[in-house]
Amino acid sequence: MNFSKKVTSNQEDIHSDLEKLVTRYAACDYRRPVAEHTQRAFESAMEFANRFPKPLILDSGCGTGDSSLSLARKFPEHPVLGLDKSEIRLLKKNEVPGNVLLLRAELLDFWRLLVQNKIPVHFHALYYPNPWPKQSHLGRRFHAHPVFPALLRVSRRLELRTNWEIYAREFAAAAETAARLFSLPSDVSLSRYMPEAPETAFEKKYLESGHFLWRVIFLSLK
Ligand SMILES: C[S@@+](CC[C@H](N)C(=O)[O-])C[C@H]1O[C@@H](n2cnc3c(N)ncnc32)[C@H](O)[C@@H]1O
Repeated sequence: MNFSKKVTSNQEDIHSDLEKLVTRYAACDYRRPVAEHTQRAFESAMEFANRFPKPLILDSGCGTGDSSLSLARKFPEHPVLGLDKSEIRLLKKNEVPGNVLLLRAELLDFWRLLVQNKIPVHFHALYYPNPWPKQSHLGRRFHAHPVFPALLRVSRRLELRTNWEIYAREFAAAAETAARLFSLPSDVSLSRYMPEAPETAFEKKYLESGHFLWRVIFLSLK
């Protein structure tokens, strides 16, 4: 069995700079140039999505793609797109069903392409993103990064899962702050999560190692 150590951090609560960063980034556009490989991935993804009458399901940071397969079973009529920056992880999946496409892409760019091109995404899964648990790494967490306004606009239904309670609490607080600043009616809920069976490689490892899991659901009500 592949055991995983619980997340340890020198941070014991929501970071005191979180609100300041979320507020700063809500007021500006994130303009980092889109990487060429991600632009190409976006074009392939659009070709794939256009073959289906239903909108995309997005699995961001899909790793080896286990959750993409599980999403494909839950949403059999939708195209499911799994994205990860690690080709090595993506290559572990040899065969996928016809409604799944796994692509190497940079999320920081791909999310903005989806929003700029107004691509409808029915459901956005963000399962176990890197927690960056050191206090000094706050700015690397997606919710304290300039990409966060775009991330929240990708889909009206977003589910984040994590094995670090502080990450979940920060993500929920950041989503509430950003939604308020954008006057976006929304519902944000945070809860302990106990799946009947693990859906992702990391979820399996965390459950076998006795970690608590957390989930944040963000629903845009507009
Ligand atoms: C902890 S793993 C979780 C993988 C998968 N969701 C699971 O639960 O098994 C985080 C994944 O996010 C990917 N990732 C992190 N930052 C990314 C980024 N900016 N763009 C694309 N992928 C990213 C990593 O390569 C890694 O596979």
